Amino acid sequence: MTTQQAPGLEQIRDAWNAVADGFDRFVTPESMVLGREVVLRLGLRPGTRLLDVGAGSGALTIPAARIGADVVATDLAPAMIERLTARALAEGLSSVRGRIMDGNALDLDDDTFDVAASVNGVSVFPDMERGLAELVRVTRPGGRVVIAAFGPLPTVEFIVFCAGAVRAAVPGAMPLPTDPPPLPFQAAHPDVLRERMVDAGLREIRIDPFTWESAFDSARHLWDTFTASHPIGAQTAAALDDGQQAEVVRVLEGTLRERSAGAPGAVLSAQVNIGTGTVC
Ligand SMILES: C[S@@+](CC[C@H](N)C(=O)[O-])C[C@H]1O[C@@H](n2cnc3c(N)ncnc32)[C@H](O)[C@@H]1O
Repeated sequence: MTTQQAPGLEQIRDAWNAVADGFDRFVTPESMVLGREVVLRLGLRPGTRLLDVGAGSGALTIPAARIGADVVATDLAPAMIERLTARALAEGLSSVRGRIMDGNALDLDDDTFDVAASVNGVSVFPDMERGLAELVRVTRPGGRVVIAAFGPLPTVEFIVFCAGAVRAAVPGAMPLPTDPPPLPFQAAHPDVLRERMVDAGLREIRIDPFTWESAFDSARHLWDTFTASHPIGAQTAAALDDGQQAEVVRVLEGTLRERSAGAPGAVLSAQVNIGTGTVC
């Protein structure tokens, strides 16, 4: 078993800043499918005070603001907040305030929000418990805390396909740590997510599974999405030279065609658990 060294906050911020451009271009349009699902399940209304932590470039914030929620969108990475704000401005969504903030130490008062949510946000933090405690602290009694987190790694096909292609194209490459699994999978089992929400003092907890489907129109699109989706993807790509990456894309072309009966693109699914709890 290997131990994952926890990176410092600056290192984490720099790593997310570095992928923000590709994240906004390739990941956020797909993540909005998940963001919209969370918004639907919460039954948000115009005027609901919503906090989004680890907001990225707006996958949850933008759909919530479209229905009139009053959103404070926070992220550690300034480059993410810049892009989120640009998206809100482009749509004329005036109820969005973007703020650069560490989700583990929110610069926000207690009991402020009706709903505090984090979509693949606090579940990627090295100290998820602390991020969750902050969500609870800033939510009013009777309000709700929502965490959307990936299910087990083998169910997240865009990662499985890309990691498999790297292994096939570059013998000896180790695209992902497996023991323990990468941080985005720390609460992949619904029981673990429930336990963390119980430990945070939430009640009336529900863990609802959701199958998130994303359409990739080519192998290049899939690879670009993987490498911008998380600093681990970016590091995986950085360890390969141009020829090796071209070979990975060639392998991916084959696996996508297999999946889609010869078409160049395919729809890939990912299991996500949406945990909701009420603040006492
Ligand atoms: C996987 S992305 C998810 C973004 C968005 N919620 C979505 O679904 O598209 C994780 C986000 O968490 C942010 N993040 C990482 N560590 C953070 C921290 N300590 N505080 C706040 N945000 C953080 C990253 O900058 C990144 O935007």
